[in-house]
Amino acid sequence: MTITADTLLAGWDRGLLTARDRVIDSPRVRERGRLVRASGLVLEIVGLRLPLGAHCWIEQIDGRDHAEAEVVGFSGRSLLLMPFAETTGLIPGARVWPVLGPPGSRTGAAKSMPVGPALLGRVLDARGRPLDGGPLPSDADHAALAGASINPLERAPIRNVLDTGIRAINALLTVGRGQRLGLFAGSGVGKSVLLGMMARFTAADVIVVGLIGERGREVKDFIDNILGEAGLARAVVVAAPADTSPLLRLQGADYATRIAEDFRDRGQDVLLIMDSLTRYAMAQREIALAIGEPPATKGYPPSVFARLPTLVERAGNGRNGGGSITAFYTVLTEGDDQQDPIADAARAILDGHFVLSRQLAEAGHYPAIDIEASISRAMTALIDATQLSRVQYFKRMFSRYERSRDLIAVGAYAAGSDPTLDEAIALHPQMESFLQQGMSERSDHHDAAAGLAALVAGNEATS
Ligand SMILES: Nc1ncnc2c1ncn2[C@@H]1O[C@H](COP(=O)(O)OP(=O)(O)OP(=O)(O)O)[C@@H](O)[C@H]1O
Ligand SMILES: [Mg+2]
Repeated sequence: MTITADTLLAGWDRGLLTARDRVIDSPRVRERGRLVRASGLVLEIVGLRLPLGAHCWIEQIDGRDHAEAEVVGFSGRSLLLMPFAETTGLIPGARVWPVLGPPGSRTGAAKSMPVGPALLGRVLDARGRPLDGGPLPSDADHAALAGASINPLERAPIRNVLDTGIRAINALLTVGRGQRLGLFAGSGVGKSVLLGMMARFTAADVIVVGLIGERGREVKDFIDNILGEAGLARAVVVAAPADTSPLLRLQGADYATRIAEDFRDRGQDVLLIMDSLTRYAMAQREIALAIGEPPATKGYPPSVFARLPTLVERAGNGRNGGGSITAFYTVLTEGDDQQDPIADAARAILDGHFVLSRQLAEAGHYPAIDIEASISRAMTALIDATQLSRVQYFKRMFSRYERSRDLIAVGAYAAGSDPTLDEAIALHPQMESFLQQGMSERSDHHDAAAGLAALVAGNEATS
């Protein structure tokens, strides 16, 4: 056979390709990319082919540790990455390596996070690292961040009452195990205090708290003063405050949900508290806008509205006979605007919403739950007809009074002209004190139901 230049070159090519493949597949040698652009939060790299969600290390100057970043999008042949923490030492052309999974895998490491009972009483960040000073227990179980979804037809229905320890909720807005609710409120109207009361008083095996995107100072305050030692003992707290990257804020919420799922799969009844769902949505908005997704509804890109249900749907009951996750998500209604797009979306995907009213808080009425504006969609399946008629009677009397509140206040209402209103006026002081509750007072479900029955007794029949 004659050796031509062509066959020689083809042979070299084949040899080179085989050698290249061997090098790339070798676990000891990694592919490498280059940083070509940094604009705002987004880093653009070339030379790597990785799936969305894969992690990379990026070289930093001055001998700093490599920065870790996640692939959040791509454009043509370049990958768009977002770092997990603030980066200061990046330079044009910096080298980028994929964080490899098990040998042979080219898709990046699956995120494996600590979960399970060893975490009780602990405060962790969004990456599962302790924030409370102590080391992570060596016997902590680990699980992939993404939980397996449950076939909706296999989920146990919401059938059992959950005792929240809050009188107004237990009696008038009964919550069931596995229900997912929104706590809608503006700033400073008592969300944290109410959530803390629930965390301490609720009849649940485990409390998982996700503090997402709130001020750092609040995290400490919530743990020390609101949750307290007793609350923390049966709780796991995941904190991703406002100064962490949007990626970590998203991951913090996913991680808290994953911890709750793990306890549920162990057959336990979990109370998941997420403060706040709005900040979770804002983190997704930050990422989506940074990689060029167009804003749609009031500045929120569509991916935000796609992401909310995927988080919320993970809470709820497990399979029949298994555990449950009852979840409360706080939703910020800036300027008490109930029409905010996130509030709207949350109302549509949750099984009820409790509205905290600034007016009540300003009047010193705590918890400032607006009974008229709040609803628990599972309630009718949880309480009997007698209880339901008492609830309806209470709400009727309460609204009747509220509608005429101004008239009554200025003395323009002449007693006797409207028998229902007379009844509402007579009952009002009792209704007010029934709805109020001190921070350290617990009211169990039976006491609340009995209190409501006593309040309504004698009047129900006449209404
Ligand atoms: N049950 C209660 N009894 C008495 N005071 C209360 C009660 N709940 C809340 N407060 C008062 O309301 C204040 C604000 O409450 P909280 O910090 O829970 O509000 P927030 O809605 O979480 O505020 P932010 O929006 O700043 O996070 C508390 O400092 C406390 O004085
Ligand atoms: Mg708060």
